[in-house]
Amino acid sequence: MQTPRYAFFEGRIVPFAEARISVMTHGFMYGTACFEGIRGYWDERAGALAFFRLRDHYARLHRSCRILRLGLRYPVEELCELTAELARKNGDRADVYLRPIVYKSALQIGPHLNGVADDFTMLMLPFGKYIEAGGGIRCRTVSWRRPSDGMIPARAKVNGLYVNSALAKTEALEDGYDEAIMLTADGAVAEGSTENLFLVSDGTLVTPPVSDSILVGITRDTVLTLARRELGLPVVERRVDRTELYVADECFFCGTGAEISPIVEIDRRPVGPGKVGPVTRRVQALYLDVVHGRHPGYADWRYPVGIP
Ligand SMILES: Cc1ncc(COP(=O)(O)O)c(C=O)c1O
Repeated sequence: MQTPRYAFFEGRIVPFAEARISVMTHGFMYGTACFEGIRGYWDERAGALAFFRLRDHYARLHRSCRILRLGLRYPVEELCELTAELARKNGDRADVYLRPIVYKSALQIGPHLNGVADDFTMLMLPFGKYIEAGGGIRCRTVSWRRPSDGMIPARAKVNGLYVNSALAKTEALEDGYDEAIMLTADGAVAEGSTENLFLVSDGTLVTPPVSDSILVGITRDTVLTLARRELGLPVVERRVDRTELYVADECFFCGTGAEISPIVEIDRRPVGPGKVGPVTRRVQALYLDVVHGRHPGYADWRYPVGIP
């Protein structure tokens, strides 16, 4: 993987090699950090990188920080401006992935959060597809459960929580699947290792509720909004049983990295006829039009930064 040229670190833009933390950093030792994953889509005609729902991602970062008692001194608008500055400095005229992180920066033993210093860093690098999902992917329900709100809140994008995603994804990959589906502690469908999940049943889009141990995904919200406004599809947020996946007409993952990734097999059962379904195709095409600025609406979801 390519490494970034510059990073934002300790209050300024520095060459990437200089953005280093101590092994004694609280956030490294205890996973006490929160982050975002954001895509910037290169628009050749405009000569600009358009960051998708940048303000919404930074608003979620602020919410994560409130849960984890992290101080983030930059308001949303300033974070957007810092992002633009870093993008111009890096100068990548290609799709990029942006990773802002707020972390407990004190060199300190003991996992408590109160009274511990924090800092903000951010990097971005050219980035293509996260999942090769052309013909649809194969998934399995893994043995690892999603921690519930009283364990590690999934609503906060906490670095330490990604141990759970790592265990889940590894189990799926080593068993020959492309991605994991995780259940809640009491057995309802939650989400993928880095994606939210939708199923299509009798023309209705169904997705697990925010109270079922999921990250409240921005792509999930994008899909819900586009399905209602543009596609006229009924959408329902409700508890989903595991076996509903086995009898669904269609299934797909959505996320910043995964975009819209159709699922064609779950636990050795074909989803519907085992091919990418028509609703998924419509959602996917519309999503890609919106993020790439080919759709006449939703300009306010794109934050363009001209790259000289
Ligand atoms: C666990 C988890 N669920 C869902 C998502 C999708 O969220 P978003 O659409 O905001 O990228 C992600 C993506 O980062 C994730 O890590």
